[in-house]
Amino acid sequence: MRLRVSHLLLGLTLLTSIARSDEPAADISALEATLTAAEQAETDAIAARLQAESELRTAEQEFQRLERALKAAEAEPAAKAQTLTEKTAAAQPLVDAAAAAQAALDAALAANQPILDSADSTEEQKQAATAAITAAQQALEAANTPLAAANAEVATAQQAADAAVQALTAAQASLAEATRIRDEKAPIATQRAEAVALAAAQRLQCEINLRDALATAGQWVSFAGEVAPILHSRCLACHNARTAKGRLNLDGYANLLQGGESGPSLVAKNHAESPLWGQVHDGSMPQEADPLAPEQVTLIARWIDSGARLDPGLDRSSRLMEILPRIEQPLPPEHYPVPVAASALEISPNGAFVAASGYHEVLVYNIADGSLVHRLHNVAERVYDLSFSPDGQRLAVAAGIPGEFGEVKIFDLAAHTLLADLIRVDDVVLGVAFSPDGSRLATCGADRSIRIFDVSTYAEQHRIEDHADWVLDIAWSPDGTRIVSASRDKTSKVFDTATGDPLTTFNGHGDVVQGVAYLPDGAHAATCGDDNSVRVWVVAEAREVRKLDGAGDDVLALRIGPDGQTYTASVDQQARRYEANTANLVKAYAGHTDWIVSLALHPTTGDLITGSQDGLIKVWTPNGDLVREWKLQP
Ligand code: HEC
Repeated sequence: MRLRVSHLLLGLTLLTSIARSDEPAADISALEATLTAAEQAETDAIAARLQAESELRTAEQEFQRLERALKAAEAEPAAKAQTLTEKTAAAQPLVDAAAAAQAALDAALAANQPILDSADSTEEQKQAATAAITAAQQALEAANTPLAAANAEVATAQQAADAAVQALTAAQASLAEATRIRDEKAPIATQRAEAVALAAAQRLQCEINLRDALATAGQWVSFAGEVAPILHSRCLACHNARTAKGRLNLDGYANLLQGGESGPSLVAKNHAESPLWGQVHDGSMPQEADPLAPEQVTLIARWIDSGARLDPGLDRSSRLMEILPRIEQPLPPEHYPVPVAASALEISPNGAFVAASGYHEVLVYNIADGSLVHRLHNVAERVYDLSFSPDGQRLAVAAGIPGEFGEVKIFDLAAHTLLADLIRVDDVVLGVAFSPDGSRLATCGADRSIRIFDVSTYAEQHRIEDHADWVLDIAWSPDGTRIVSASRDKTSKVFDTATGDPLTTFNGHGDVVQGVAYLPDGAHAATCGDDNSVRVWVVAEAREVRKLDGAGDDVLALRIGPDGQTYTASVDQQARRYEANTANLVKAYAGHTDWIVSLALHPTTGDLITGSQDGLIKVWTPNGDLVREWKLQP
């Protein structure tokens, strides 16, 4: 008995295990089919939305055309009625003249007919009578001819007036019809847009389901997590947007799918037929370098065989850098062998701390005694700029390695945690600035772009690509509606922060513009640069109103005090202060023995903090007395 039961159990287990081992495969092809259908549905939904939007646009254009036509038609009846009145008035004297001629004829007939009829009349009298009647008749005819012409004009004017009224009625009807069509199309376009969003959400869910099933079956290979790092480190040097050897750009999923000069680089689920795999398998790629490790070649094969999919939720057009796994930056050394350049300095809004560039970290010092109070880690090698949120709770850090990497991170200063990893690009980010109300963050860098982020969602609102070279610095207007930039392309530009549109350009430095700041009035901005000058501009007119000379050598940084005084940092190892509203030099701060590369102004005491290329920080009173100094060298 016992034996039979266990036999039976064994049989059952066997059955279910067979069923199980079949299940995932069946599952996966079903999920793939569902995903394909969902992708098709999304494509169809997008096409339908485009169609609806195009119809709506046409209806809108027709509506506007008819609206203009109606405006024109509305003026017509009055104009035509006016013409009719004028013509009628012009005909009146002719009517009167004709009536008078008729009366004259009647009188001539009454006077002369009896003469003609009478037997007593002489031949002479008859002739005179006939002549009088004929003259009256001719006079009447002469009066009737212009009257007939005038009457014809009145009739024409009358017709035109009637036609204008009819045309107006017709134009009103047409516009009503166009309005109806437009109002009918508008909700359809909205519905179609909603349908696209829904289809996209469904497609994403299908992608997630398929990924989960593949992962359960041990078949999932993450493109972003596993394949992209290989391509990024081994292939991108020769296969990027600028240099695409074999016309193959591997920087991003969409580009990879596109293939190169020999056609597609992937064959669906068939790694052996896929050139991308073939080239790394036989060692021809990466060219003139060590071949990929066998595990990496196998990984690429598995990725292709599992469908060569992109991880759910990622944008196909993203560059590899943007989707690579986020790796913690290396820790800085506990103690530095040498000080690090003071490339960035920023005082906290409460005036207690100064944050400075470290090596793979941000160093936060107590201003009162120069003691190091905090070290913020997980930062790229060199720090280029810092910005405190106006409430002092967050610090934005722009960092990178020249020619390789750039990042912008936002840290929570109370919890010392990373809040956002905003940007990853392949060259340094040079500037970062919170908007005056703290709701947005602007960045700029070696990729020539300026980006504006919404701080509550960290979503990128604008990417402005208007400069021809690195953007070295940016500043917000006091009201947050403008951003002014400084670029290596020798210009400074002003942008509308709501639209991202360029508004004006300050030409004039004729050399690299290094720094920029708004004056407190919001109407003026100051720029400094490698032409050894500071220039002050009327923003709206892009007109230079002042030039501050004698600012030493290249002017690398500038700050404007709340009272409008200008502070500069120069390659000649001095900082300087200029009077507000004039070009007068008030004070020079001498003592550094290397380029001064950064400046910060204390919000309440007016103390100036300067930082030099050799890593020395100095704190000065408004009188120019040195209060204390320390090195950026934990
Ligand atoms: C040092 C430069 C270099 C590197 C690195 C490199 N390639 Fe190439 N690749 C080339 C050149 C050049 C070609 C053009 C064809 C040729 O000369 O063989 C090419 C062509 C290709 C092609 C064929 C494109 C086509 O459509 O004809 C593929 C696929 C390819 N590479 C894949 C890779 C992969 C994958 C990597 C990284 C693992 C890589 N390559 C790394 C230089 C490079």
